[in-house]
Amino acid sequence: MTPANAPGKFILFGEHAVVYGQPAIAFPLRQLRATARIDIIPDAPRGHVRLHAPDIHYQAWLHEANEENPLRKIVQLTLDEIHAHISPAIEVQVSSEIPVASGLGSGAAVSTAIVRALCQHFEQPLELARQSELVYEVEKIHHGTPSGIDNTVIVYDQPIYYIRGRQPEHLAISGELTFILADTGLPSNTGQIVGNVRRAWEQDRSTFNTFFNEIGQIAERAKFATAAGDLKSIGKLMDENQELLEQIGVSSDTISGLLKTARDCGAYGAKLSGAGVGGIIITLVQPSASTTIVNALRKAGVIWTGVTKV
Ligand code: PMV
Repeated sequence: MTPANAPGKFILFGEHAVVYGQPAIAFPLRQLRATARIDIIPDAPRGHVRLHAPDIHYQAWLHEANEENPLRKIVQLTLDEIHAHISPAIEVQVSSEIPVASGLGSGAAVSTAIVRALCQHFEQPLELARQSELVYEVEKIHHGTPSGIDNTVIVYDQPIYYIRGRQPEHLAISGELTFILADTGLPSNTGQIVGNVRRAWEQDRSTFNTFFNEIGQIAERAKFATAAGDLKSIGKLMDENQELLEQIGVSSDTISGLLKTARDCGAYGAKLSGAGVGGIIITLVQPSASTTIVNALRKAGVIWTGVTKV
């Protein structure tokens, strides 16, 4: 048995604009993980690979699975990449604690865990940049123009300052940042929302390019604010980023209500995180205020909260 795992993730600044070449900031979320394990199946024909995802009651032979199935795709890409010789047959089993369609990177985390488990099982190490490229190929199934931020932050497993097509930069942080993440319980369909933003951009490029540029400037200023440990500035920048996300059309009344709840309880700043519409919100808080804010958000109807320190 060869187990491997990968963290979830959350985006602090720059979602959507990052698709259009602007910088963004993201963190791994290590308290929620996806796991993959490889087991030998002695009685199955040589060369066979079985996919097994008990969480969703899915089991299939690799060669019989739908070609657009993300599990099939990442397993096949990895086996090809490492020139794996499959004898005896194996089972690739995956499970995940990361809620799906919530902006927490569950798809990229599952893919990353699979890449790692297969590399370990076949004793073929793969450099991080290549792992990230393989996971990116699968991200394309979810939407046609992924920025690559999810696969990058999850594979590198560190806070990143990210610009599409460039090597990720490690994000410097002074002191400690305490975030509360809360799941609205409403789905966030990344493919659909990114598609809507693209259509809106095509109709009015100059307005949308201005929004994206402004978001990019916020992410850039935030890089200096995190390096300085300036919590008030980071919070203010989160609020400004949220206003622009609202103008882009990816927020919702539910999200706005929850953000107001967090701010009214004294949060430094709050915004949606990920594709938006539903999914998670994120708020930067003083550690001493976190219990009050968690309770207020739960009362306001969120289905999951997590406190994370970076
Ligand atoms: O996968 P999500 O929901 O965390 O959103 C990804 C972030 C976007 O900027 C909206 C899309 C992308 O490819 O970067």
